[in-house]
Amino acid sequence: MKYEQEIKRRRSFAIISHPDAGKTTLTEKFLLFGGAIQTAGAVKSNKIKKHAASDFMEIERQRGISVATSVMTFEYKGCLVNLLDTPGHKDFAEDTYRTLTAVDSVILVVDSVNGVEAQTRRLMEVCRMRDTPVIVFINKMDRDGKNRFDLLEEIEKELSISLHPLTWPINSGKDFKGVYNLYDKNLLLFTANTKAAEEDSLHISDLADEVVDQKLGDRDAEILREDVELVDGVHGELNVQDYLAGKVAPVFFGSAVNNFGVKEMLDTFIRIAPTPRSRETSKRVIDVNEDKFSGFIFKIHANLDPKHRDRIAFLRVCSGRFERNKFYHHVRLDKDVRFSNPYSFLARDKDVIEEAYPGDVIGLFDTGNFKIGDTLTEGEDFYFTGIPTFSPEIFKELVNKDPMKTKQLEKGIMQLTDEGVAQLFTQFGGNKKIIGCVGDLQFEVIQYRLLQEYGASCEFRTLPYYKACWITSNDKNKLNEFTRFKSNNVAEDKDGHLVYLAQSEWFLNTERTNNPDIEFHFTSEVHK
Ligand code: G4P
Repeated sequence: MKYEQEIKRRRSFAIISHPDAGKTTLTEKFLLFGGAIQTAGAVKSNKIKKHAASDFMEIERQRGISVATSVMTFEYKGCLVNLLDTPGHKDFAEDTYRTLTAVDSVILVVDSVNGVEAQTRRLMEVCRMRDTPVIVFINKMDRDGKNRFDLLEEIEKELSISLHPLTWPINSGKDFKGVYNLYDKNLLLFTANTKAAEEDSLHISDLADEVVDQKLGDRDAEILREDVELVDGVHGELNVQDYLAGKVAPVFFGSAVNNFGVKEMLDTFIRIAPTPRSRETSKRVIDVNEDKFSGFIFKIHANLDPKHRDRIAFLRVCSGRFERNKFYHHVRLDKDVRFSNPYSFLARDKDVIEEAYPGDVIGLFDTGNFKIGDTLTEGEDFYFTGIPTFSPEIFKELVNKDPMKTKQLEKGIMQLTDEGVAQLFTQFGGNKKIIGCVGDLQFEVIQYRLLQEYGASCEFRTLPYYKACWITSNDKNKLNEFTRFKSNNVAEDKDGHLVYLAQSEWFLNTERTNNPDIEFHFTSEVHK
C-alpha cells in the first residue's frame, strides 16, 4: 500500500462521442479548468483545433479529423486527471476500443439536437462489456434540441443504461435559461460566454422561493418545479455504487462552447469517478495497491515527430511505481527493457518523467519491441486480459506494386499492424496477405504511410469477407480437418492463431451448425 495516496488522487478517463457532438470543445474546457492551457476562447478562434491540443498526426492535419489518441494530464482540486482523447472518426473505432481498455471511466457527450448516433451505440457496447462507469453530458442546450424527457428516454433505450439526471435544464435553444443542480440545489443561470469564468450561480434551498420566479419568470419557474418534483420522484438520490458498477449513468445538461454546466460535471466527476482499480491478468488479479510495478501497452503511435522515425508506445500503469531507467520484464519477449526517456503527454509538449503510478499513461520510445497488449512487470509472467482484438469489418488483399521494395513493404506492414493500424492475416497454406480494418479510411492511411515511411507502394484488392472469427477446438483433429477442408477461408493472424473468414452471416451460421466441435470467437481474447 506504499502508493495509496498517489492512487487515490488519480482519475483516468476518456471522453467519447459521435463526431461533432462537442468532445473537442469539452476537452478544451476541462483543460482550461485544470490550468493546462490558458487560451480561453480558443475554440472560437479555432487555434487549438488547428494546432492540435489533441490532434497531432500529419495525416490528421491533412484530413482534419481526429486520428490520433493522445493523453492530457492536469491537476484539479487536488486530483490528478488523466484524460485520454479518442479519435472521433468511425473508421478509427478500433483505436477508441483500445483506449477504453486503459481508462477507469468514461464521459459520453450527446448532442441534444441529434440525440444518440450510430457511433455512440458501438462505443457504449464496449463500455458495457467492461462495466465501465459512464457520466453523460448532454451538450448544445443553447440550440433547439429534443424534449429533455424524450431525449433521456431515447438515450436509456438506445444505450441500454439507466440514467440519473444530476442537473436539469430550463428550456433549450434561445430560451435556454440555465440548469438546476439537483444535488447541490443551485440554480445556474445561463450566460453565453466562451471564457472559463465562474457561472452565475444562485443557491436555492427551496425551489418554492420567490427568487426563482424573479430569475426565470413565472411560467418557467413553475415548469422547473414540476420537472424537479417528477425527476426527484423517479430517481431520488444517486447511488454511487450503481454508477461505479456501470449500471447507472449520472447526466448533466450544458453547453460546452459556452462553458456552461461543464464545471458542475467536472466537480462531480472528481468526487465520484473511480480511482484506478485492480485488474485481471492471465494468471491472477493484480491488486492496484501491489508494490510491484505492472502495466500494459494499449496504443502505439508512429512518427509523432516527422524528423524522427520513432514510435511511441502508450503504457497504462496498473500497479506499483514505474521508474525511469529501471529494468522491467517484457513478458512476451522474455527480456528486460528499460526506458531513459519516458514521458507524460500534453499533446506536443512532452515532459520526461521520473516516475508514474497506477492510472497514469506514459509514452515509451519504441524501436519495434512492442505490440498492442504487451505487458511489463517486475519479473512475474502474466498478461493483462481484456484487451481484445475485434473482428475487422473490411478485408482487402495487399498487393505489392513495386517488387524492388518487397522487403520494405513487408517490414512496413508488420510494423503498422503491430501498432494496431490494421490487422494482418496470412492465407492458410499460402502467402496472400489479407489486411482487415474497421473503416475504409485506414486503407488510405496504410497506403500513405507505407509510401511515406517505407518507400513501398501497394494497392488493395477487395475481398468478399464480412467477419473474421478466431477458431478453436478441444479436438485437434477436427480443427485440422476443418482448416484443410476450408483452406480458402482460413487464415492465420500475426500470432499464428487460426481465423475463419466468413463471407456472410449465413456462411458463418452454416459452418457453426455443421461443425459443432469448433468454436467461433469474435475477439482474439480466447488466446490470452
Ligand atoms: P467533436 O470534437 O465532438 O467532433 O466536436 P467539436 O468540439 O469540434 O464541436 C463541433 C461543433 O459544435 C463546433 O462547431 C463547436 O463549436 C460546436 N459546439 C460545441 N459545443 C457547443 C454548444 O454547446 N453549443 C453550440 N451551439 N455549438 C457547440 P464548428 O462550427 O464545427 O467549429 P468551430 O468553428 O466553432 O470551432
